[in-house]
Amino acid sequence: MPVHIDQERLVHELETLASFSDAPAPAVTRVVFSKADLESRAYLERLFREAGLAIRKDPVGNTFARWIGGAEPELAAVGTGSHTDAIPHAGRYDGTVGVLGGLEAIRGLQRAGFRPRRSIEVLAFTSEEPTRFGIGCLGSRLLSSSLAPETADRLKDGEGSTLEEIRKTAGFCGSLADVALPQGYYHAFVELHIEQGPLLERAKIPLGIVSAIAAPATLKISVEGAGGHAGGVLMPDRHDAFLAAAEIALAAEAAARATGALDSVATTGVCHVFPGAVNSIPSRTTLEIDVRDTDLARRDSIIKAIGDACTDTAESRQVQVRLEIINADAPAQSSPLVVEALRASCSEAQLEFISMVSRAYHDSLFMSRIVPQGMLFIPCRNGYSHRPDEYASPEDIARGVQVLASTLSRLAA
Ligand code: HGY
Ligand code: MN
Ligand code: MN
Repeated sequence: MPVHIDQERLVHELETLASFSDAPAPAVTRVVFSKADLESRAYLERLFREAGLAIRKDPVGNTFARWIGGAEPELAAVGTGSHTDAIPHAGRYDGTVGVLGGLEAIRGLQRAGFRPRRSIEVLAFTSEEPTRFGIGCLGSRLLSSSLAPETADRLKDGEGSTLEEIRKTAGFCGSLADVALPQGYYHAFVELHIEQGPLLERAKIPLGIVSAIAAPATLKISVEGAGGHAGGVLMPDRHDAFLAAAEIALAAEAAARATGALDSVATTGVCHVFPGAVNSIPSRTTLEIDVRDTDLARRDSIIKAIGDACTDTAESRQVQVRLEIINADAPAQSSPLVVEALRASCSEAQLEFISMVSRAYHDSLFMSRIVPQGMLFIPCRNGYSHRPDEYASPEDIARGVQVLASTLSRLAA
């Protein structure tokens, strides 16, 4: 059903949410369970309450706001939502468009007097970004039983505090074993998100319906060499841990390029050099490498090539190299039930769309394990994301929310 979207109010709420940040505007840094994150959660809950939604928070902080307007509330609900945590020096639209857009979609349906059969629920997932605990989609992994609760609780942040200590200090007590959703909890799940790529803008098409979400993997590589004085140790005698790590980082890039497929990507986003003094040969270096592909076998072939590079470099440079796979997840296919509802909503609004793959991962990747899911993309300027100049126009955001509202009404009817 056509729904009026209060674009001005939504943009104001996105700007307000962006103000809860540990970085100077326009950048946004909002790391899970930081003061900025906790303040942003309180703000969201106020908005959810003002919309008359019933709020539930689980032991890891996933926040559910349900519109119990369904004529048959005992039926499995229709879910929507995304995340509000933000990596350091990021933008203000990644994730937040899906949470506040989901809320505005519900408010629009309420204003339009729509009476759903199934309840509709907007979800704010905890810790979609890997920033604090090194693994992405922590909340949705636990919801979908894709991560063991005891493993999750033992995850540590950069200061050595465990997830259990941090979440309980933040007021999220209870057992993580209670986070997993029972099969059939949701009838369908739809996530609205910025594309985080340039294709929609280049094609001048306002909407993308996601067909599949690429398979992400995160590797941690620790190199132990021999340190020493930058002047005193002669070159033939050196076992420089950073240069060995650099060789492995370049091998990761080469492995991704070597598949010849554009969907194969690899990035070394984190590099720590120890002791980190200009006149001291690095004795230890750790890398964190992000590898993705829409094709699982190809993604795994890149991981294998990186493993081989570790072995070769350890041999040639006489250093110790340890490779740890933090996560290596399968890709997700979108559900025909949700894709059909999205397509019908775009057609009803006479809006063009393209079917596309998501190279970024999202909580929907894990929701796909327990419920029919789909994603709707809106353009972002130059495809920029995870940068302060990330931008989605009010018109594109409102268009996405309008199609989301219509899709939710179809799935909840
Ligand atoms: O890295 C990702 O794909 C997501 O933005 N966390
Ligand atoms: Mn992100
Ligand atoms: Mn995101």
